[in-house]
Amino acid sequence: MTRVLFVCLGNICRSPAAEGILRARGLPDLVIDSAGTGDWHVGKAPDRRMQAACLSRNIDISDLRARQFSVTDFDRFDLIVAMDRSNYRDILALAQGKDKVALLSEFAHKQGAQVPEDVPDPYYGGDEGFETCLDIITVGIDGLVSDLQARI
Ligand code: 4NP
Repeated sequence: MTRVLFVCLGNICRSPAAEGILRARGLPDLVIDSAGTGDWHVGKAPDRRMQAACLSRNIDISDLRARQFSVTDFDRFDLIVAMDRSNYRDILALAQGKDKVALLSEFAHKQGAQVPEDVPDPYYGGDEGFETCLDIITVGIDGLVSDLQARI
């Protein structure tokens, strides 16, 4: 069993989308979860705009609920995947070591795919921001899947 945790700021846009996209790949022996470094949206469903953008790609994330990242997640997960460098730094500030912590774009870059280092935060932007976000996350997940298949 490999346990993967995606982390963004609010856990209502990028990390639940990453969770839903990876879940839809149907890989065996995988536990998938997501969390936010902030606590503003704890208990809430993903942002409506992200739910709609995901659903248009046949990914249903309506069942997910936001929670805050906790130090106990370092023990509960094998791999902690940050959506942007700011999330990455916030996670490392709580970490004992950085072995388990990665940036989603690293997995895309390992496969030679061209994506920005950070998945941009779509919260304060327009609808097209959510599409861009999903495009970038999808390439990252493609890379992550290749990586996980080599581990499993
Ligand atoms: P996320 O997006 O980190 O992708 O979930 C955000 C959601 C909410 C806020 C910031 C980013 N916020 O400031 O409330």
